[in-house]
Amino acid sequence: MRSLREVSMKVPQSSLITFALLLIQLSSSSGGKILVFPLDGSHWVNMKVLIQELHAQGHEVTVVRASDSWYVSEKSPLYTSVTVPSPGGFEENYFKAFLSRQLEIRLQGKHTSFWSKIWTHIQIEQLVVNQMSQLHKGMSEMIIQMFEDENLMQSFHEAKYDVVLTDPGIGGGAMLARRLKVPLVFNVRWTIQGEAHFLIAPSPLSYIPFTATELTDKMTFPQRIKNVLSYIFGMYTMSYITEPHYKPVVKKYFGPSVDYSTFFLDADIWLMRNDFVFEFPRPTMPNIVYIAGFQCKPPKPLPVDLEEFVQSSGDHGVIMMTLGTLVENLPQDVAEEIAAAFAQLPQKVVWRYIGQKPANLGNNTLLVNWLPQNDLLGHPKTRVFVTHGGTNGVQETIYHGVPVVGLPLFFDQADNLSRIKAKGGAVIVDIAELERHMFADALMTALYNSSYRENMQKLSRLHRDQPLKPLDQAVFWIEYVIRHKGARYLQTQSNKMSWFVYNSVDVLAALLAVALLVTFTCISIVRLLWRFVFVGTKVKHE
Ligand SMILES: *[C@@H]1O[C@H](CO)[C@@H](O)[C@H](O)[C@H]1NC(C)=O
Ligand SMILES: *[C@@H]1O[C@H](CO)[C@@H](O)[C@H](O)[C@H]1NC(C)=O
Ligand SMILES: *[C@@H]1O[C@H](CO)[C@@H](O)[C@H](O)[C@H]1NC(C)=O
Repeated sequence: MRSLREVSMKVPQSSLITFALLLIQLSSSSGGKILVFPLDGSHWVNMKVLIQELHAQGHEVTVVRASDSWYVSEKSPLYTSVTVPSPGGFEENYFKAFLSRQLEIRLQGKHTSFWSKIWTHIQIEQLVVNQMSQLHKGMSEMIIQMFEDENLMQSFHEAKYDVVLTDPGIGGGAMLARRLKVPLVFNVRWTIQGEAHFLIAPSPLSYIPFTATELTDKMTFPQRIKNVLSYIFGMYTMSYITEPHYKPVVKKYFGPSVDYSTFFLDADIWLMRNDFVFEFPRPTMPNIVYIAGFQCKPPKPLPVDLEEFVQSSGDHGVIMMTLGTLVENLPQDVAEEIAAAFAQLPQKVVWRYIGQKPANLGNNTLLVNWLPQNDLLGHPKTRVFVTHGGTNGVQETIYHGVPVVGLPLFFDQADNLSRIKAKGGAVIVDIAELERHMFADALMTALYNSSYRENMQKLSRLHRDQPLKPLDQAVFWIEYVIRHKGARYLQTQSNKMSWFVYNSVDVLAALLAVALLVTFTCISIVRLLWRFVFVGTKVKHE
């Protein structure tokens, strides 16, 4: 009813009736049984928003977790959990150490030559490959443990789930769904084989930038070369990381006739966390539903002391900074430069920072252990958001229309931010080059050049102007799959084709063969005729 009341203020009567009918339809199907196989860590934060809503709609949710799960708690009012007695490969301390090491290598690349930057890049790549490989190794062991546990599998079968909901960044959910013969819904941006669109939708590399290239949809010839090479290298790396772990499992439990390369593409619906408000337009598929921003909410009031601090900024307003939950502190010298830059400004600053207090800290800067990100972003005094570019931060800042100063750290965060930059809403600073003056310059640009705020406000208006809120959309499609026992009819045949059939290589080859045959026959006939005539005339002359 919450959404109905909000909608009723804006929409005409007829669509209100349609919407009410929709709600009735929704509530009549409630009470489905949903099995969730999540990816631990920050992705879980996302998945939980969805689980919360499914629970609120009266569905019964069961969550599969590893014995050493980091974020996924065993007890929750929202779901019942099933713990597989095996580590899932996502161990907290190990992962944090991996991120710090990655940051360290990046910062070593400071002020160095082109070649040592490349070397830095290779080192990071290697670190990521090892870490991801560990994760998938752990996951594949967890899957085997699960499949071998007959009691557990029996209880899964007996529970008669309506749908499996999973993040295909790990292989477990897709395998479990196939094993239980239950429809499958992805909450997805990444699959174990790479960015989701590149796997299921046509993706011409001429205008679709590959992951982590920071390219746009307008590429020069050298950039297109970079894009194609990145694609080849990236796809190879992904299969190198995942195949050795999952391929044997697929073969063992589903038989050698199953095509491994398409095994993980078999979802009924792909709930995709992409937002074309700031991402580049590209071909899509009928079973893809876009739900980016489903985690965004209107702001709640701030805690009293924080509100007081924010109000004390006067007309200058507030800058907020957080680098996510995984990076708690920065190297001291970087933190000093950031603090010094903040101290030069008349704004107040709320900075989520755990670690030694920087000596340069200005009296305008408040260090906090935690901040209510969404509520602060939605506060009218907030002027700029300094972020690393994780999913939640990016979507929330678009939702609230706040300009960004980006400090990308890992993975595809630089991509996220470069897209907002391409729309004129962000200034990006390379953390390896960060120094107080350039950081202050970046902040001033985002604060005082009004085009940044205007562009972000525009993105915000576009993002909010949708027929159905992203979260309602996600729930609708999960319930749709429950009601119709899947949505296979939306799947294209491309999943079942080999690359040469998909690209019509066989047809082209056949046509070419025919063309060659015809040409050859014609030439032969002409030659034969010519010789006949020529020889004939010669004979006549003699
Ligand atoms: C904060 O520092 C600035 C300059 O460093 C100074 O002018 C101002 O009075 C200080 N404010 C307070 C409340 O201490
Ligand atoms: C942004 O980056 C995060 C990784 O930190 C990734 O999971 C997410 O999908 C990206 N979001 C967008 C909108 O590109
Ligand atoms: C503001 O930024 C935009 C985009 O970077 C730029 O084109 C424009 O000239 C800037 N305006 C001012 C007043 O500096």
